[in-house]
Amino acid sequence: MRIIKVNDYEEMSRKAADLIASQVILNPKSVLGLATGSTPIGTYENLAELHKKGRVDFSQVTTINLDEYCGLEPTHDQSYRYFMNKHLFSKINIKLENTHVPNGKADDIDAECARYDDLIEKAGGIDLQLLGIGHNGHIGFNEPSDEFVPDTHCVSLAESTINANSRFFRTRDEVPRKAITMGIRPIMHARRVLLLASGEDKKEILKKALFGPITPRVPASILQFHKDLIVITPIDI
Ligand code: PGA
Repeated sequence: MRIIKVNDYEEMSRKAADLIASQVILNPKSVLGLATGSTPIGTYENLAELHKKGRVDFSQVTTINLDEYCGLEPTHDQSYRYFMNKHLFSKINIKLENTHVPNGKADDIDAECARYDDLIEKAGGIDLQLLGIGHNGHIGFNEPSDEFVPDTHCVSLAESTINANSRFFRTRDEVPRKAITMGIRPIMHARRVLLLASGEDKKEILKKALFGPITPRVPASILQFHKDLIVITPIDI
C-alpha cells in the first residue's frame, strides 16, 4: 500500500484527479470504477478542469459506478446516476452510453445485480477503482457484515449510513433503506485502487481499515490485501 499524505482536501482532490487523468492518458480505453459522496466531488471538479484544458480525453473511457439506491428514479436529485451526470459526466466528453450505474428502479433486482456483474466482466474488469470510505468502514455500500459478499447484491443500509446520508434529504424518512452495490470481488480485482478519505471524523475508521484486523466488520480492511492500493489523505494516521 502506498499512502500519499497531503495537506488538505484540495490537494487530495488535485492529486487524485492527476492520477485518474494519467490512467486515461496511458490507456484511453480505461475502465474506471467510480464513487459518489462528498469525498470525490473535488476530484471530479479537477478532472472536468483538466478536460477543459484539453489535457484528457474521455471519449473512449468506460465508467462503472459502485452503487445506487433502490427505488429512486435516475432523475431523482439524490440518485447516484443524477450525481454522476451533474458532477462529472455532463462536464467531460464521455459517451453517456459508456457510463454505468446500477438501476435502482429495476423490477427484478436479482436480475439487475447479475446484469451488472456481467457488464463488469464483459468490460474486462476495472483498471482503476476510486473509493471513499464510510464511517463504519463500508466501501460502496458493502456494509459491515459477517462475510465479504463477492458479487453485486442488494443491501439493507446500516443505520449509521442512513443517518450520514440523511443530510442530503429533506427528512431521514426519505432516505432509501436499500441499495444495490458492487461486491468485493471486482473491487479487489481492479488493477489499481485509489482510496480517498478526508476529515478528522474519518481518522479512526481509516486507521482500522488500513492497519487493523482484516474483517468483514470493517469492509475496507480487505483492501490491505490489494496489490496496488494508493491512499491519498490529509488525515494524520
Ligand atoms: P462521503 O461518503 O464521501 O460522503 O463521506 C463516503 C462513503 O460513504 O463511502
